Amino acid sequence: MRHDLIEQTENFVRHELGDDATGHDWYHIERVRRNALNICSEENEGNTFIIEMAALLHDIPDEKLNDSAEKGAEKLESFLATLDMSDEAKIHIKNIIFTISFKGGVKSELDTIEAKIVQDADRLDAIGAIGIARAFAFGGKKGQPIYDPDLAVREKMTIQEYRKGKSSSVNHFYEKLLKLKEKMNTKTASRMAEERHKRMEQFLEQFYSEWNGQS
Ligand code: ADP
Ligand code: NI
Repeated sequence: MRHDLIEQTENFVRHELGDDATGHDWYHIERVRRNALNICSEENEGNTFIIEMAALLHDIPDEKLNDSAEKGAEKLESFLATLDMSDEAKIHIKNIIFTISFKGGVKSELDTIEAKIVQDADRLDAIGAIGIARAFAFGGKKGQPIYDPDLAVREKMTIQEYRKGKSSSVNHFYEKLLKLKEKMNTKTASRMAEERHKRMEQFLEQFYSEWNGQS
């Protein structure tokens, strides 16, 4: 029964996100699900079914992948309406999805362990080697430079500036990715983030060294 719901959701998400090239493809979803279930089992906390469903659906209403935030929310809503599942579970899943997004650093308090775990899982996929790959893929798709020494790192910004302002993919590390390690909710994710954070720092060191004509 629960297995059927997971399978139904997988099929829907695969169909919706399959060929996305902004870093939100099906494999991002699979990695987030794996991270989330791994954190859940390490922490020995949280409802695995809710976590798995929320991980699978977390990018469905993203406004970047829909015509508008409202359209995205409708898409999620109409899919959930097709599922044979309690209203309570549906509300919990929606609540997780709408509270976890980063939105330029504005932090909304998360009230359930399931939300904390799915948020950690999504953030882990934005850092480390995978995070590096995704940042440059996203940047390329958006048409921003890999790096531009004349573009200053933006310290404080509104959601609009974060989404639309001029930046580079290297700047994105300072504006978001290097901050994520400190924002993990669970011990397990903090531990994983330490390793991934170091990989980004090493990458940036090597990047500047090559940029400056060094080995
Ligand atoms: P957000 O909530 O910040 O929009 P997403 O998780 O939807 O982030 O972004 C998808 C991927 O693209 C992430 O790995 C993220 O780090 C990366 N990304 C988002 N914005 C930028 C940017 N301006 N430059 C480079 N990479 C970006
Ligand atoms: Ni995501």
